[in-house]
Amino acid sequence: MATTPLRPQDSRPTAEETGRARLDALMARGAAFLGARHAIMGGAMTWVSDHALVAAISEAGGFGVLAGGALSPEELRAEIRATRARTKQPFGVNIITLHPAFDALVEMVVAEGVSHVVLGGGLPKASAIKRLKEADIRILCFAPSRAVARKLLRAGADALIIEGSEAGGHVGPVSTQVLAQEILPELAEAAPIFVAGGIGHGALIAAYLEMGAAGVQLGTRFVCARESRAHPRFKQAFIRAHARDAVTSVQLDPRLPVIPVRALRNAASEAFVRMQREMIEKLERGDVALEDARLAVEHFWAGALRRAVIDGDVENGSLMAGQSVGMVRGEQTAAEIIAELITQAADQLAWERAKAV
Ligand SMILES: Cc1cc2nc3c(=O)[nH]c(=O)nc-3n(C[C@H](O)[C@H](O)[C@H](O)COP(=O)(O)O)c2cc1C
Repeated sequence: MATTPLRPQDSRPTAEETGRARLDALMARGAAFLGARHAIMGGAMTWVSDHALVAAISEAGGFGVLAGGALSPEELRAEIRATRARTKQPFGVNIITLHPAFDALVEMVVAEGVSHVVLGGGLPKASAIKRLKEADIRILCFAPSRAVARKLLRAGADALIIEGSEAGGHVGPVSTQVLAQEILPELAEAAPIFVAGGIGHGALIAAYLEMGAAGVQLGTRFVCARESRAHPRFKQAFIRAHARDAVTSVQLDPRLPVIPVRALRNAASEAFVRMQREMIEKLERGDVALEDARLAVEHFWAGALRRAVIDGDVENGSLMAGQSVGMVRGEQTAAEIIAELITQAADQLAWERAKAV
């Protein structure tokens, strides 16, 4: 028997609906820029971000970015086509300005009609920016400081990614929260700014959005997506690790410069320190030329990320990971990861709203 409600049903939005509406409003600019449902980018990760992961992230309402750092123009073209075969949703392509075939990569993305390019590895050449702009491709660049952020916008970048030192992979010296404070208040109106590095929970996404970010970019949280091709041993290392295990590579002597990379501590990272110590001793004895010692340090990690991600050699390879690795608790689909982040962010906003009333 149907029951009659004692009083008319409450038509006010629930706290959850309020949180979701607020989140959508805060993400609106970033989502429109990306053409995605949510302003959450799955950052390009060399060897990890292939067509399967990128398509899964974009299908789930995020914005996947294909990693082009280790691919030839033809290999990357094949990845772009394979991604399109799996999703009609937009996605980005990461190209590194230091890539030996950089110009050919630019021509290839123009020919393929890619919608968004994420340029990594330093200031792009003016000619490349011009070429991409003529082709109506949206350009996102990494800004490791306020000065560089301003310069990139003047040079024609359409949006910026500010990535702090908590992130996995190659990192700058400044933390995400300091970069956010330095850059968002001044530049968030001028261009969409996406915040990256150390984000593992939706509550922090809400906080950066409230500071003026257009959206966020996460890498580490997506490594253990079910659709990620990373070797099961690579994923296991992530699932077991705590935040403190993701450390930056150590430089022992300024004569032998080390590019800082954040990765999980393993046998290779210890061997790297031993090797530097040996090189310093040899330098002091005059047993090795400075140039050769530098090359030994530079080449130590060559091929190491592939060894770990693809071959599963988690002791001798590079386990690039950010500090948010402690928040990776198991394999989840990309859709589950995005849904979880969105719920957490909306809950945070709903809770703040409830506190304010
Ligand atoms: C294994 C790994 C590989 C990465 N490779 C690249 C890359 O090739 N190009 C790039 O622009 N960023 C790369 N990144 C950075 C990510 O795109 C992303 O910005 C970063 O992971 C965000 O910080 P988080 O790890 O704290 O989420 C990599 C990160 C990881 C963990």
